[in-house]
Amino acid sequence: MHCHPLSLCYPLRFCDAVMSLVPLKRRRRSEPVPGGTTSPAGTFPGVCVFLVERRMGRARRAFLTALAQGKGFSVTPEYSDAVTHVVSEQNSGSEVLMWIERQSSRPVEHGGAQGGPQFLDITWFTESMSVGRPVGVEPRHCLGVEEFPAACNKAPETLPYACQRRTPLHHHNQEITDALHVLAKAASFEGSEVRSLGFIRAASVLKSLPFRLRSAEEARGLPWCGGHCRTVIQEILEDEACREVEMVKISDQYRSMELLTGIFGVGVRTAERWYREGVRSLRDLQSIERKLTAEQRAGLRHYTDLQQPVTREEAVRAELLVKDALQRFLPEVQVTMTGGFRRGKQQGHDVDFLITHPDEGALTGLLKKAVDWLESKEPTSALLGGCPMNPPPFHYMGMLLYHQIKERSHGRRTASITMDGHETCFSIVALPNGDTERTGLDALSPEPVSPHGAGPEALASWRAVRVDLVVAAYSEYSYALLGWTGSKHFERELRRFSSHKKKMSLSSHRLYDTEQCCSLPATCEEEIFAHLGLQYLTPSDRNA
Ligand code: UTP
Ligand code: MN
Repeated sequence: MHCHPLSLCYPLRFCDAVMSLVPLKRRRRSEPVPGGTTSPAGTFPGVCVFLVERRMGRARRAFLTALAQGKGFSVTPEYSDAVTHVVSEQNSGSEVLMWIERQSSRPVEHGGAQGGPQFLDITWFTESMSVGRPVGVEPRHCLGVEEFPAACNKAPETLPYACQRRTPLHHHNQEITDALHVLAKAASFEGSEVRSLGFIRAASVLKSLPFRLRSAEEARGLPWCGGHCRTVIQEILEDEACREVEMVKISDQYRSMELLTGIFGVGVRTAERWYREGVRSLRDLQSIERKLTAEQRAGLRHYTDLQQPVTREEAVRAELLVKDALQRFLPEVQVTMTGGFRRGKQQGHDVDFLITHPDEGALTGLLKKAVDWLESKEPTSALLGGCPMNPPPFHYMGMLLYHQIKERSHGRRTASITMDGHETCFSIVALPNGDTERTGLDALSPEPVSPHGAGPEALASWRAVRVDLVVAAYSEYSYALLGWTGSKHFERELRRFSSHKKKMSLSSHRLYDTEQCCSLPATCEEEIFAHLGLQYLTPSDRNA
């Protein structure tokens, strides 16, 4: 294993140099406003104004400070207990509260009646300025502070396994979890799966928090959120960026590994070997193309298209295409979109489908027939190598640009915890471009090709999209559905929970009770959660 470029290989001075390149977007504290007074005394006893710089800006704050002081108001540059009127522009009460707490590093009371200052909109200030004295506070001046009950902010009890918690797609700590995912990736690029998993677990805990963290201290005591994670949290809350993360992101190793593992068919180990051999770009790979697998060659050829996220609208068109091909051979076939789209994501890196039918015999060979049909419609080579001035008639929009069928693994315990032995087809399809005028199957009917050049992506009427097809026996369908809906971390946690807490072994075929020595049947996902003694989570709460 080689060392991380940021930890060992470079002398400290290099790190310092890199650090200086990393912009820290915000000063930790707002600087004193020129002319500001620290004394709460003024013409109006009992009134001490604090102007919130956030969104107001430094210059305007200085101007308003001078204006108010000229009229005898006491305006303080630093927040303190003496403040009676907190005035802000274009912030909600909660934002003001969070901002002041972050600036002053301490909890702040609010709401005049409880003794804390009133949080007011700039309208109170301008009205006071125009009459030359503090006007009475009316409800319309007050900023609402959403109640974050203190108990809620302490996260009543964050259960240790992700499958015991709701993890919605949209959560309150995105910047922090994004940063932790960069560190997780970097660790995995270095071959340190354990460290990587640590960051993934911490991120997953924060995704499930029902509130936005306001300090690193609030994360103390949360599962998996140790010192390293809290440093990341603190820097992001204070500076909007974490130095370690920013350094990782600009490192040569991270950027190259990110590029190489982004190619379909390239895992971390392959990318690492190439990196060690000096591969840094796609061009470097083209020169060793003959050494690549067929999968990697396809990944390289369609790199640009596959980098572009698949939209939900495209996923729906891919579903029509897949169903159309399968129904020719099995009209009653059931096709379900799984993966991220089933969890509510609006885009993904691929589209995943689960295929089943009550007559399990009818499923045998189905994938191959559908794939052969798609391929036979128009040979891929005709499209890719055809003369652009005389393209083939584009009758066959669903053609496969790449596919690999994996047979279901039969026999002895080949279906291990990570290797599920379903019959699968990992493919790249040429998805016809969307047409807002025509929807549904109409969109799959012939349309003219307008070639712009020789490369496959130059044919503007389709684009390459990754599609995964998985065939599940009807009796195992619920387990397959649960297993292929994800997220990956959710699945990992579900299996860890099953074995550690329940002495059961979960796969996307079955749940096996190792003490009773029997499999537990299930006709829906709810039953599987019930077997495990878990509260049912809808797919949209499985974004761990
Ligand atoms: P994906 O890798 O497609 O992830 O696997 P995703 O959640 O849909 O995310 P994007 O949007 O495409 O990036 C989908 C599910 O299929 C299972 C994983 O557990 C995941 O939950 N899966 C995938 C397997 O079980 N085995 C595989 O080889 C691939
Ligand atoms: Mn997917």
